[in-house]
Amino acid sequence: MEIIIQPNADAASALAARHLARVIRGKPDAVIGLATGSTPLRLYAELIRLHRNEGLDFSGVTTFNLDEYLGLAPDHVASYHRFMWEHLFDHINVDRQRVHIPTGLLTGEDVPAYCQRYEDDIRGAGGIDVQVLGIGSDGHIGFNEPGSSLASRTRIKTLTRRTREDNAQYFESAAEVPHHVITMGIGTIMEARTALLLAFGESKAAAVAGAVEGPVTASNPASVLQMHPVTKVFLDEDAGSQLGRRDYYHWVFDNKPTWQRD
Ligand code: GLP
Repeated sequence: MEIIIQPNADAASALAARHLARVIRGKPDAVIGLATGSTPLRLYAELIRLHRNEGLDFSGVTTFNLDEYLGLAPDHVASYHRFMWEHLFDHINVDRQRVHIPTGLLTGEDVPAYCQRYEDDIRGAGGIDVQVLGIGSDGHIGFNEPGSSLASRTRIKTLTRRTREDNAQYFESAAEVPHHVITMGIGTIMEARTALLLAFGESKAAAVAGAVEGPVTASNPASVLQMHPVTKVFLDEDAGSQLGRRDYYHWVFDNKPTWQRD
């Protein structure tokens, strides 16, 4: 894992955007995995800026989102479909046919076949080149809650009370937060060639410390990224505040050979 701690979320997001832009410029038909939540908002704003001001071209890019709430129609205010169009897709030249977000509108029997198709579509597209990830305050990635199998594939999950509370802000009332979701599995995420994990703010500090410096455990699903060959972790100072090797990460970043800089 490469740990990149920046003074604030804007600076960290700009670095993550620069990495993504470089991938897309080098491979115009790149396959990008995308996340929702408050964390990637600055990253998406920066990608939109790069598209508008620096001609970053998304026309050949294929996207796969991590997850969606079961039971929410795409136009529901809190759906991840709505989130993605509002905060990114409506502002760049992505090809609608190449956008993949798990549907929230499935009945029980359809779920396994749908999840298998989602996996097949990712493989069919050539696999994910770069996966953007946030982290839940309990260490979840996608909606893989603590206890998720580290080998899991796209499937239905039940949210913990903590995640439902954390995400209640996006709904009119806490009771409205669905109990069930569809999420890429941890095994699915681990197949991405590069993972970019972003985390900002004090509320993520414990989960980040566990993920980066704790044992690899299903109790902190993000910790499995220690087993991933190319993971970059973009943090602000607050999210990195519980890392024991903080000084070392700063030193490594500040002393990177120029040829290694993104
Ligand atoms: C949500 C999403 C995750 C996201 C995480 C953190 O539940 N399913 O993909 O990374 O929780 O959300 P936020 O960025 O709003 O803190």
